[in-house]
Amino acid sequence: MIFAGRFAGKVMVVTGAAQGIGAGVAARAAAEGASVVLVDRAEFVTEVEQAIVAEGGKAISICCDLETYEGAAVAMAKAVEAFGRIDILINNVGGAIRMRPYAEFEPAQIDAEIRRSLMPTLYCCHAVLPTMLEQGAGTIVNLSSNATRGIRRVPYSAAKGGINGLTQSLAMEYAESGIRVVATAPGGTSAPPRRVARNAEGDSAQEQAWMAEAVAQVTDSAFLKRYGTLEEQIAPILFLASDEASYVTGTVLPVAGGDLG
Ligand SMILES: NC(=O)c1ccc[n+]([C@@H]2O[C@H](COP(=O)([O-])OP(=O)(O)OC[C@H]3O[C@@H](n4cnc5c(N)ncnc54)[C@H](O)[C@@H]3O)[C@@H](O)[C@H]2O)c1
Repeated sequence: MIFAGRFAGKVMVVTGAAQGIGAGVAARAAAEGASVVLVDRAEFVTEVEQAIVAEGGKAISICCDLETYEGAAVAMAKAVEAFGRIDILINNVGGAIRMRPYAEFEPAQIDAEIRRSLMPTLYCCHAVLPTMLEQGAGTIVNLSSNATRGIRRVPYSAAKGGINGLTQSLAMEYAESGIRVVATAPGGTSAPPRRVARNAEGDSAQEQAWMAEAVAQVTDSAFLKRYGTLEEQIAPILFLASDEASYVTGTVLPVAGGDLG
């Protein structure tokens, strides 16, 4: 469903916009009037930009690595250069790289999960603040996960717990500056096959078996006993990003069929 004009005149930065939830959020926000800035380290993010522009939307894409502070700073600077302001930041980069019992994680793999699922959001929130403070307004929507209580991906669970903490604390600290900070906590979500895999090394048969255990736990923990759709994740993200949610801040909204994470 499209709410025509809901984001008219708004500039929205979406991280991890080349595929999945991020691409869907960007496309729908553009259809609802936003000027969107698509940030991803996958070069095919330009294809999402082209599709939006072909539909008559306004979009630019920026290719950078948000696991570095420099990437976050460059992305925000280019967004302001292109559109003059940033009204909304959707921090969508993240995702469990590996699924395995915690005892089976190697130390470097623990670090990689935190770098992927916590640091880009921490960096982008910091990098966008000067712009939002100057504007005296802004909205940040972070992507958490129901995995804050789940098996086979403890480092990712910890990263997303960090997302919940920064969402609440940042909201408290900057409410007086006109900045809202909120999050959704998606559950398992059905999507087309990923063009960029979470784990560039591929998953062994053992890892696929561990992943199946996590999928079973996620499905069982949901009252609705099923995965959600991309559209079921995109809609609450855009509601929280919109002015309709102007009295909602510091909230992490579970979107997981009854699983509160
Ligand atoms: N899909 C799910 O089932 C699910 C469930 C719960 C939470 N989530 C959360 O929702 C968000 C989106 O999930 P998804 O499944 O759509 O993601 P995805 O893995 O399909 O896509 C992530 C995108 O982020 C990009 N990216 C990854 N690392 C990056 C980096 N360092 N710099 C720049 N770009 C980078 C990738 O290139 C990719 O385009 C994530 O934060 C994830 O943790 C997803």
